Amino acid sequence: MTEQPLLAVTDLAYAYNGVVAVRSVSLAVNRAEIVALLGSNGAGKSTTVKAIAGAIAPQGGDIRFDGQSLAGAPCHVVVRRGITLVPEGRLVFPQMTVMDNLRMGGHTLGSTAEIGRNLDRVFGIFPRLAERKSQLAGSMSGGEQQMLAIARGLMSSPRLMILDEPSLGLMPILVQELFRLIKGVNESGVSILLVEQNVHQSLRIAHRGYVMEKGKIVLGGTGAELLNNDFVQRAFLGR
Ligand SMILES: Nc1ncnc2c1ncn2[C@@H]1O[C@H](COP(=O)(O)OP(=O)(O)O)[C@@H](O)[C@H]1O
Ligand SMILES: [Mg+2]
Repeated sequence: MTEQPLLAVTDLAYAYNGVVAVRSVSLAVNRAEIVALLGSNGAGKSTTVKAIAGAIAPQGGDIRFDGQSLAGAPCHVVVRRGITLVPEGRLVFPQMTVMDNLRMGGHTLGSTAEIGRNLDRVFGIFPRLAERKSQLAGSMSGGEQQMLAIARGLMSSPRLMILDEPSLGLMPILVQELFRLIKGVNESGVSILLVEQNVHQSLRIAHRGYVMEKGKIVLGGTGAELLNNDFVQRAFLGR
């Protein structure tokens, strides 16, 4: 018997005012995996992850996490169950310090001891944030704000972290560092669903991936299979 996936999405459907954005999307994330969700602008990636995170209610299909249905559950319930979405655009609270942003990320936790443990853990993964605890988030660089957004997501003790285009707008040297950090988060025991347009770097760290086009999954495979796939090479890698 194979172990059931941590996250299993089946036949997910969503339309904005009747205009279909996602149709019949099925995907899975297993424990300890990094799974990439790739596709060009407008493919339906953000809609898919917003439905998983409870930001929008799916209009069809099911979302199961650790064996239980989550479809239609609101964000705060989804977070308590162990899924955190770091949305597109690194939405930190600019007028709050790094420390207060991190504390906000842990507000769903029951105990201050757990908040303290999680702070130690994120400062271990992101030492640069430890040096900047009292700096206002809005005064940090784009790359540092993205690290803070991810660190804040980790504060809720997720078992699955969903990152929506974390590398968007970052300088290439920071993109490399970011992908290294995402790998580090995964190695600390968090499964990851990584939405990206940076196909090459994502597939290098991903165990598996899916490609979306016009609201549907059109391709799936291991990171290596997708990197070598003709369609992926032509559509995304300019070969
Ligand atoms: N709030 C919205 N209202 C109406 N249409 C939307 C909204 N958000 C996204 N869409 C549309 O849904 C489709 C999928 O968008 P999205 O999920 O954001 O794709 P991606 O994240 O892959 O770029 C696109 O055609 C987009 O224009
Ligand atoms: Mg998007």
